[in-house]
Amino acid sequence: MKTSATSLADLAFPADFAWGAATAAYQVEGAVAEEGRGESIWDRFSATEGKVRNGDSGAVACDFYHRYRDDVALMRELGVNAFRLSVAWPRIVPDGSGVANPAGLDFYDRLVDDLLAAGIRPFVTLYHWDLPQALEDRGGWPERGTVDAFCDYVEVVAARLGDRVDRWVTHNEPRVASWLGYGWGMHAPGRTNERDALAAAHHLLLSHGRAVEILRRESPHAQVGIVLDPFPVYPASAGASDAAAARHMDGFHNRWFLDPIFKGRYPEDLLDHFGANAPRVEDGDFRQIAVPLDFIGVNYYRREVVAHSENGARTVHMPDSDYTDMGWEVSPEGLYDLLVTIRDEYGPKAIYVTENGAAFGDLRAHDGSVRDPERQDYIAGHIRVIGRAIAAGVPIAGYFVWSFLDNFEWAHGYNKRFGIVYVDYPTLARIPKSSFYWYRDFIAAATRAALPRAASS
Ligand code: FCB
Repeated sequence: MKTSATSLADLAFPADFAWGAATAAYQVEGAVAEEGRGESIWDRFSATEGKVRNGDSGAVACDFYHRYRDDVALMRELGVNAFRLSVAWPRIVPDGSGVANPAGLDFYDRLVDDLLAAGIRPFVTLYHWDLPQALEDRGGWPERGTVDAFCDYVEVVAARLGDRVDRWVTHNEPRVASWLGYGWGMHAPGRTNERDALAAAHHLLLSHGRAVEILRRESPHAQVGIVLDPFPVYPASAGASDAAAARHMDGFHNRWFLDPIFKGRYPEDLLDHFGANAPRVEDGDFRQIAVPLDFIGVNYYRREVVAHSENGARTVHMPDSDYTDMGWEVSPEGLYDLLVTIRDEYGPKAIYVTENGAAFGDLRAHDGSVRDPERQDYIAGHIRVIGRAIAAGVPIAGYFVWSFLDNFEWAHGYNKRFGIVYVDYPTLARIPKSSFYWYRDFIAAATRAALPRAASS
């Protein structure tokens, strides 16, 4: 694996840097029919033949709903000072609108208290793709009314947890929620219509802006942001057509989301491309979408090298690169370029790397251990470039490994393992992998060597 020459030991991270791990409700909680939880689009999608590999679903997942206390104890052993979780909307508002479910709120209340008691700061995402099915039945994200339903839900959660939670994320990866969910049918709710995908994306962005206002009111001391999944796109050659293909892919996946949030407009080249399918924008929408943020979260897994093709752009396989079990190219340098570009183009106050990690086909050895040197290298390589980016003045405030636990990887079911903790699904036993111990030792060392706050700012 190619990594830069800078040694991890030479890098200094700010003393208040968030060292964390991340999960999402539907991927870990299980307990889908317990204590008043309503149906989500992922329950319905998973139950639909042929949608999820092996017919898997999040019905049991890691059973985090019942085992969270033990998992928080394990996080404590890991030494993280931050944990990124998401709230399941169908646990809070089972029918999508109307009365909140007290048992759902109680669960997150207990979880937040447990984390705080363990010295771990909760980073709470309000939407990580589990829309109440009742709202999908009324049209889902392509309907503007879903924005109001989201705001009502955010209000309830913020009113309950806002005194203790001080890092809020409105949405996780609106690009994936809109395009994979409504445009290409690979994720719930499995619809395949470009116009719907673009309307969904617009409403996700609008609901983000409105939620920020609610969170600032209900949780006045908190920092609020959104998580995107931008990736750098490089042309495969110096030719003009490959450059145009790269620019198009960057516009489609990255600028379409970053520009409205930071500049209050959609990129012109993409508006031309989408033509009549472009979303209907009402007066005031962009003002709301571009509300100032305390941070942007970046989920980073891969870069894309692309060449021109009939359909716009095709990903080029790089023979000298490593690829993960997802087929994603390993490229820490891509993260460096991305962070610098975001700083230069958009100037966010702070950036958190809210997800980074790799799937590999982990196996348990006869002695019961799980050794995952490739994942360790992957994480170390990316942390190294984050250190370099900080030294170059990029305001990076934290790093979260995806994922704390092996979990339900959406349409791939349980086939892809991303955890630094192995989950033995038949017994639900947790077995920390060797990358867990490496990350534990690294966090301890980085914390000891941390820059004092003043020197890092
Ligand atoms: C991201 C998602 C996360 C997980 C990782 C592998 O796109 O936010 O839930 O599935 O990919």
